[in-house]
Amino acid sequence: MPSPPLTDRRLVVVLGKGGVGKTTVAAALALGLADRGHRTLLIEVAAETRTAAVFGTAPPVDAPVEARPGLFALSVDAERAMQEYLSIQLKVRPLVEMMSRSRAFHQVTQAAPGLAELVTLGKIWDLATAVRDGRPVWDRLVVDAPATGHGLALLQAAASMRDLAGSGPISDQADAIERVVRHPAATGVVVVAIPEELAVTEATEAVTLMRGHGLPVACAVANAVRTSPFGPGDADALRQVRADPAAGSAERAAAGAALATVDGAAHDAREVRALGDGCALPVAVLPVVADLAPGSGGIEQLSAALMTDPALGGAGAA
Ligand SMILES: Nc1ncnc2c1ncn2[C@@H]1O[C@H](COP(=O)(O)OP(=O)(O)OP(=O)(O)O)[C@@H](O)[C@H]1O
Ligand SMILES: [Mg+2]
Repeated sequence: MPSPPLTDRRLVVVLGKGGVGKTTVAAALALGLADRGHRTLLIEVAAETRTAAVFGTAPPVDAPVEARPGLFALSVDAERAMQEYLSIQLKVRPLVEMMSRSRAFHQVTQAAPGLAELVTLGKIWDLATAVRDGRPVWDRLVVDAPATGHGLALLQAAASMRDLAGSGPISDQADAIERVVRHPAATGVVVVAIPEELAVTEATEAVTLMRGHGLPVACAVANAVRTSPFGPGDADALRQVRADPAAGSAERAAAGAALATVDGAAHDAREVRALGDGCALPVAVLPVVADLAPGSGGIEQLSAALMTDPALGGAGAA
Protein backbone atom coordinates (compact mmCIF):
# COMPACT_ATOMS: atom_id res chain seq x y z
CA MET A 1 0.00 0.00 0.00
CA PRO A 2 1.45 3.41 -0.88
CA SER A 3 2.39 5.58 2.08
CA PRO A 4 0.22 8.62 2.70
CA PRO A 5 1.51 12.07 1.72
CA LEU A 6 3.84 13.62 4.24
CA THR A 7 1.26 16.31 4.99
CA ASP A 8 -1.17 13.62 6.24
CA ARG A 9 1.22 12.20 8.83
CA ARG A 10 0.81 13.51 12.36
CA LEU A 11 4.48 13.34 13.30
CA VAL A 12 7.16 14.60 10.94
CA VAL A 13 10.82 14.48 11.94
CA VAL A 14 13.31 16.68 10.07
CA LEU A 15 16.84 15.34 10.15
CA GLY A 16 20.19 16.14 8.51
CA LYS A 17 23.78 17.25 8.91
CA GLY A 18 24.51 20.30 11.11
CA GLY A 19 23.76 23.61 9.43
CA VAL A 20 22.01 22.29 6.30
CA GLY A 21 18.73 24.05 7.09
CA LYS A 22 16.81 21.62 9.33
CA THR A 23 15.30 24.45 11.40
CA THR A 24 14.42 26.40 8.26
CA VAL A 25 12.82 23.41 6.51
CA ALA A 26 10.94 22.36 9.67
CA ALA A 27 9.63 25.92 10.06
CA ALA A 28 8.61 26.10 6.37
CA LEU A 29 6.76 22.78 6.64
CA ALA A 30 5.05 23.69 9.92
CA LEU A 31 3.96 27.01 8.43
CA GLY A 32 2.52 25.24 5.38
CA LEU A 33 0.61 22.74 7.55
CA ALA A 34 -0.82 25.54 9.71
CA ASP A 35 -1.86 27.42 6.54
CA ARG A 36 -3.82 24.32 5.53
CA GLY A 37 -5.77 24.55 8.77
CA HIS A 38 -3.89 22.01 10.87
CA ARG A 39 -3.14 23.05 14.42
CA THR A 40 0.61 22.52 14.27
CA LEU A 41 3.34 22.31 16.88
CA LEU A 42 6.89 22.92 15.72
CA ILE A 43 9.29 21.32 18.20
CA GLU A 44 12.91 22.38 18.10
CA VAL A 45 15.06 19.87 19.94
CA ALA A 46 17.75 22.20 21.24
CA ALA A 47 18.77 24.09 24.34
CA GLU A 48 19.06 27.33 22.39
CA THR A 49 16.23 28.01 20.04
CA ARG A 50 16.52 29.44 16.52
CA THR A 51 12.82 29.24 15.81
CA ALA A 52 12.32 32.61 17.48
CA ALA A 53 14.71 34.14 14.95
CA VAL A 54 12.74 32.64 12.06
CA PHE A 55 9.33 33.93 13.18
CA GLY A 56 10.37 36.93 15.28
CA THR A 57 8.67 35.64 18.43
CA ALA A 58 9.75 35.30 22.04
CA PRO A 59 11.93 32.22 22.63
CA PRO A 60 9.49 29.28 22.84
CA VAL A 61 11.25 27.68 25.78
CA ASP A 62 8.81 27.11 28.63
CA ALA A 63 5.53 26.95 26.75
CA PRO A 64 4.41 26.88 23.11
CA VAL A 65 4.45 30.32 21.50
CA GLU A 66 1.94 31.06 18.72
CA ALA A 67 4.18 32.17 15.87
CA ARG A 68 1.44 32.40 13.21
CA PRO A 69 -2.27 31.56 13.33
CA GLY A 70 -2.44 27.86 14.13
CA LEU A 71 1.34 27.48 14.26
CA PHE A 72 2.89 27.05 17.69
CA ALA A 73 6.59 26.65 18.44
CA LEU A 74 8.21 24.94 21.39
CA SER A 75 11.80 24.18 22.23
CA VAL A 76 12.49 20.88 23.96
CA ASP A 77 15.79 20.37 25.68
CA ALA A 78 16.78 17.12 27.39
CA GLU A 79 17.77 18.71 30.69
CA ARG A 80 14.57 20.72 30.98
CA ALA A 81 12.53 17.67 29.96
CA MET A 82 14.34 15.68 32.65
CA GLN A 83 13.54 18.27 35.33
CA GLU A 84 9.91 18.22 34.26
CA TYR A 85 9.82 14.44 34.35
CA LEU A 86 11.36 14.33 37.80
CA SER A 87 9.02 16.96 39.20
CA ILE A 88 6.04 14.91 38.00
CA GLN A 89 7.51 11.68 39.40
CA LEU A 90 8.89 13.06 42.67
CA LYS A 91 6.27 15.76 43.30
CA VAL A 92 8.81 17.58 45.52
CA ARG A 93 9.69 20.76 43.69
CA PRO A 94 12.55 22.01 45.94
CA LEU A 95 14.26 18.63 45.75
CA VAL A 96 14.03 18.63 41.97
CA GLU A 97 15.39 22.17 41.80
CA MET A 98 18.25 21.26 44.07
CA MET A 99 19.05 18.19 42.00
CA SER A 100 18.79 20.08 38.72
CA ARG A 101 21.26 22.67 39.91
CA SER A 102 23.83 20.11 40.87
CA ARG A 103 26.73 19.36 38.58
CA ALA A 104 26.10 15.66 39.00
CA PHE A 105 22.66 16.02 37.42
CA HIS A 106 24.16 17.83 34.45
CA GLN A 107 26.83 15.18 34.10
CA VAL A 108 24.35 12.32 34.30
CA THR A 109 22.08 13.80 31.62
CA GLN A 110 25.10 14.37 29.41
CA ALA A 111 26.81 11.06 29.98
CA ALA A 112 24.20 8.32 30.40
CA PRO A 113 24.00 6.76 26.97
CA GLY A 114 20.71 7.48 25.30
CA LEU A 115 19.13 9.11 28.37
CA ALA A 116 18.83 12.57 26.82
CA GLU A 117 17.24 11.14 23.68
CA LEU A 118 14.89 8.94 25.66
CA VAL A 119 13.62 11.78 27.84
CA THR A 120 13.28 14.01 24.79
CA LEU A 121 11.31 11.39 22.88
CA GLY A 122 9.15 10.85 25.96
CA LYS A 123 8.36 14.57 26.01
CA ILE A 124 7.50 14.52 22.28
CA TRP A 125 5.28 11.50 22.92
CA ASP A 126 3.45 13.37 25.71
CA LEU A 127 2.84 16.27 23.32
CA ALA A 128 1.74 13.97 20.49
CA THR A 129 -0.76 12.14 22.70
CA ALA A 130 -2.06 15.18 24.61
CA VAL A 131 -5.85 15.37 24.49
CA ARG A 132 -8.16 18.26 25.37
CA ASP A 133 -11.97 18.05 25.33
CA GLY A 134 -11.75 14.60 23.82
CA ARG A 135 -9.59 15.53 20.83
CA PRO A 136 -5.85 15.74 20.22
CA VAL A 137 -4.33 19.10 21.16
CA TRP A 138 -2.10 18.98 18.06
CA ASP A 139 -3.11 17.89 14.56
CA ARG A 140 0.48 17.90 13.38
CA LEU A 141 3.87 17.84 15.12
CA VAL A 142 7.00 18.78 13.23
CA VAL A 143 10.22 17.89 15.03
CA ASP A 144 13.34 19.85 14.16
CA ALA A 145 15.79 17.12 15.22
CA PRO A 146 19.40 17.62 16.29
CA ALA A 147 22.17 16.89 13.75
CA THR A 148 22.29 13.43 12.18
CA GLY A 149 23.84 11.17 14.86
CA HIS A 150 21.78 12.62 17.73
CA GLY A 151 18.71 12.76 15.52
CA LEU A 152 19.06 9.06 14.71
CA ALA A 153 19.57 8.25 18.39
CA LEU A 154 16.37 10.18 19.14
CA LEU A 155 14.41 8.10 16.64
CA GLN A 156 15.84 4.89 18.02
CA ALA A 157 15.46 5.81 21.70
CA ALA A 158 12.24 3.84 22.16
CA ALA A 159 13.69 0.68 20.62
CA SER A 160 16.83 1.01 22.78
CA MET A 161 14.67 1.43 25.89
CA ARG A 162 12.49 -1.54 25.05
CA ASP A 163 15.57 -3.71 24.58
CA LEU A 164 16.99 -2.53 27.92
CA ALA A 165 13.77 -2.75 29.91
CA GLY A 166 12.99 -6.38 29.14
CA SER A 167 9.31 -6.71 30.06
CA GLY A 168 6.92 -4.67 32.17
CA PRO A 169 5.23 -1.26 31.97
CA ILE A 170 8.32 0.63 30.76
CA SER A 171 8.87 -1.85 27.99
CA ASP A 172 5.16 -1.65 27.05
CA GLN A 173 5.33 2.14 26.90
CA ALA A 174 8.52 2.02 24.79
CA ASP A 175 6.83 -0.50 22.53
CA ALA A 176 3.82 1.78 22.01
CA ILE A 177 6.07 4.74 21.15
CA GLU A 178 8.15 2.66 18.78
CA ARG A 179 5.10 1.37 16.93
CA VAL A 180 3.99 4.94 16.20
CA VAL A 181 7.47 6.18 15.30
CA ARG A 182 7.85 3.31 12.82
CA HIS A 183 4.40 3.52 11.29
CA PRO A 184 4.42 5.25 7.90
CA ALA A 185 0.80 6.33 8.30
CA ALA A 186 1.66 8.18 11.51
CA THR A 187 5.25 9.30 11.11
CA GLY A 188 7.45 10.58 8.29
CA VAL A 189 11.14 11.36 8.39
CA VAL A 190 12.43 14.11 6.11
CA VAL A 191 16.15 14.16 5.39
CA VAL A 192 17.60 17.55 4.55
CA ALA A 193 20.86 18.15 2.67
CA ILE A 194 22.46 21.07 0.92
CA PRO A 195 23.84 20.36 -2.57
CA GLU A 196 27.33 19.52 -1.33
CA GLU A 197 29.02 16.16 -1.43
CA LEU A 198 29.50 15.80 2.33
CA ALA A 199 25.89 16.63 3.20
CA VAL A 200 24.60 14.34 0.44
CA THR A 201 26.79 11.46 1.64
CA GLU A 202 25.69 11.95 5.25
CA ALA A 203 22.03 12.02 4.19
CA THR A 204 22.46 8.86 2.11
CA GLU A 205 24.10 7.02 5.01
CA ALA A 206 21.44 8.19 7.45
CA VAL A 207 18.66 6.95 5.16
CA THR A 208 20.32 3.53 4.86
CA LEU A 209 20.56 3.31 8.65
CA MET A 210 16.97 4.40 9.13
CA ARG A 211 15.67 1.90 6.59
CA GLY A 212 17.66 -0.78 8.41
CA HIS A 213 15.82 0.16 11.60
CA GLY A 214 12.43 0.15 9.91
CA LEU A 215 11.94 3.92 10.21
CA PRO A 216 9.54 5.53 7.73
CA VAL A 217 11.73 7.80 5.62
CA ALA A 218 9.34 9.83 3.46
CA CYS A 219 11.40 12.16 1.29
CA ALA A 220 14.58 14.18 1.01
CA VAL A 221 14.85 17.95 0.79
CA ALA A 222 17.66 19.57 -1.17
CA ASN A 223 17.92 22.98 0.49
CA ALA A 224 19.50 26.19 -0.77
CA VAL A 225 19.83 24.96 -4.35
CA ARG A 226 21.21 27.57 -6.74
CA THR A 227 19.47 28.29 -10.02
CA SER A 228 20.56 30.37 -12.99
CA PRO A 229 18.53 32.63 -15.27
CA PHE A 230 20.71 31.26 -18.08
CA GLY A 231 20.38 27.76 -19.48
CA PRO A 232 23.27 25.41 -20.32
CA GLY A 233 22.68 26.39 -23.96
CA ASP A 234 23.79 29.96 -23.16
CA ALA A 235 27.12 28.83 -21.77
CA ASP A 236 29.02 28.76 -25.09
CA ALA A 237 27.90 32.26 -26.04
CA LEU A 238 28.84 33.55 -22.58
CA ARG A 239 32.26 31.89 -22.79
CA GLN A 240 32.87 33.58 -26.12
CA VAL A 241 32.05 37.02 -24.72
CA ARG A 242 34.22 36.39 -21.69
CA ALA A 243 37.20 35.50 -23.92
CA ASP A 244 36.56 38.15 -26.59
CA PRO A 245 39.32 40.80 -26.53
CA ALA A 246 37.05 43.13 -28.54
CA ALA A 247 34.38 43.11 -25.78
CA GLY A 248 34.58 45.75 -23.06
CA SER A 249 35.85 44.75 -19.62
CA ALA A 250 32.37 45.26 -18.12
CA GLU A 251 30.85 42.91 -20.70
CA ARG A 252 33.54 40.31 -20.08
CA ALA A 253 33.02 40.52 -16.32
CA ALA A 254 29.23 40.26 -16.71
CA ALA A 255 29.62 37.21 -18.96
CA GLY A 256 31.95 35.66 -16.35
CA ALA A 257 29.43 36.28 -13.56
CA ALA A 258 26.63 34.83 -15.67
CA LEU A 259 28.74 31.76 -16.42
CA ALA A 260 29.38 31.28 -12.70
CA THR A 261 25.62 31.07 -12.10
CA VAL A 262 25.32 28.46 -14.89
CA ASP A 263 28.14 26.40 -13.38
CA GLY A 264 26.71 26.75 -9.85
CA ALA A 265 23.26 25.62 -10.98
CA ALA A 266 24.74 22.67 -12.92
CA HIS A 267 26.78 21.61 -9.88
CA ASP A 268 23.77 21.80 -7.57
CA ALA A 269 21.57 19.91 -10.05
CA ARG A 270 24.14 17.08 -10.05
CA GLU A 271 24.12 16.96 -6.23
CA VAL A 272 20.31 16.94 -6.17
CA ARG A 273 20.36 13.93 -8.50
CA ALA A 274 23.00 12.24 -6.33
CA LEU A 275 20.81 12.84 -3.28
CA GLY A 276 17.76 11.27 -4.93
CA ASP A 277 19.73 8.32 -6.33
CA GLY A 278 21.72 7.73 -3.12
CA CYS A 279 18.65 7.82 -0.88
CA ALA A 280 16.26 6.28 -3.43
CA LEU A 281 13.77 8.95 -2.41
CA PRO A 282 11.81 11.74 -4.07
CA VAL A 283 13.62 15.04 -3.52
CA ALA A 284 11.90 18.36 -2.83
CA VAL A 285 14.04 21.25 -4.03
CA LEU A 286 14.21 24.55 -2.18
CA PRO A 287 15.96 27.61 -3.62
CA VAL A 288 18.38 29.96 -1.95
CA VAL A 289 16.34 32.89 -0.65
CA ALA A 290 17.82 36.35 -0.33
CA ASP A 291 16.56 37.02 3.19
CA LEU A 292 15.15 34.82 5.94
CA ALA A 293 14.65 37.54 8.55
CA PRO A 294 11.14 37.70 10.04
CA GLY A 295 8.93 39.85 7.83
CA SER A 296 11.16 39.44 4.76
CA GLY A 297 8.82 36.86 3.23
CA GLY A 298 11.69 34.36 2.91
CA ILE A 299 10.19 31.63 5.07
CA GLU A 300 6.81 32.07 3.35
CA GLN A 301 8.53 31.65 -0.04
CA LEU A 302 10.22 28.42 1.09
CA SER A 303 6.99 27.16 2.63
CA ALA A 304 5.07 27.70 -0.63
CA ALA A 305 7.80 25.93 -2.63
CA LEU A 306 7.90 22.99 -0.22
CA MET A 307 4.15 22.49 0.06
CA THR A 308 3.67 22.39 -3.73
CA ASP A 309 6.62 20.06 -4.38
CA PRO A 310 5.46 16.67 -5.70
CA ALA A 311 8.10 14.96 -3.53
CA LEU A 312 5.86 15.46 -0.49
CA GLY A 313 3.31 13.16 -2.09
CA GLY A 314 5.00 10.15 -0.60
CA ALA A 315 5.75 8.36 -3.89
CA GLY A 316 8.55 5.89 -3.32
CA ALA A 317 8.35 6.40 0.44
CA ALA A 318 9.26 3.55 2.74
N1 LIG B 1 17.02 28.09 1.49
C1 LIG B 1 17.79 28.95 2.15
N2 LIG B 1 18.17 30.13 1.59
C2 LIG B 1 18.98 30.98 2.25
N3 LIG B 1 19.45 30.78 3.49
C3 LIG B 1 19.12 29.64 4.12
C4 LIG B 1 18.27 28.66 3.49
N4 LIG B 1 18.11 27.63 4.36
C5 LIG B 1 18.81 27.94 5.46
N5 LIG B 1 19.41 29.14 5.34
C6 LIG B 1 20.27 29.81 6.35
O1 LIG B 1 21.33 28.90 6.67
C7 LIG B 1 21.61 28.93 8.07
C8 LIG B 1 21.45 27.54 8.65
O2 LIG B 1 20.07 27.17 8.58
P1 LIG B 1 19.35 26.41 9.79
O3 LIG B 1 19.55 27.10 11.08
O4 LIG B 1 17.94 26.17 9.36
O5 LIG B 1 20.18 25.05 9.76
P2 LIG B 1 20.15 23.83 10.80
O6 LIG B 1 20.37 22.60 10.01
O7 LIG B 1 18.92 23.89 11.61
O8 LIG B 1 21.42 24.16 11.69
P3 LIG B 1 21.82 23.47 13.10
O9 LIG B 1 22.38 22.11 12.76
O10 LIG B 1 22.84 24.41 13.65
O11 LIG B 1 20.57 23.39 13.93
C9 LIG B 1 20.67 29.96 8.68
O12 LIG B 1 21.33 31.19 8.75
C10 LIG B 1 19.54 30.03 7.67
O13 LIG B 1 18.88 31.28 7.71
MG1 LIG C 1 18.66 23.99 13.69
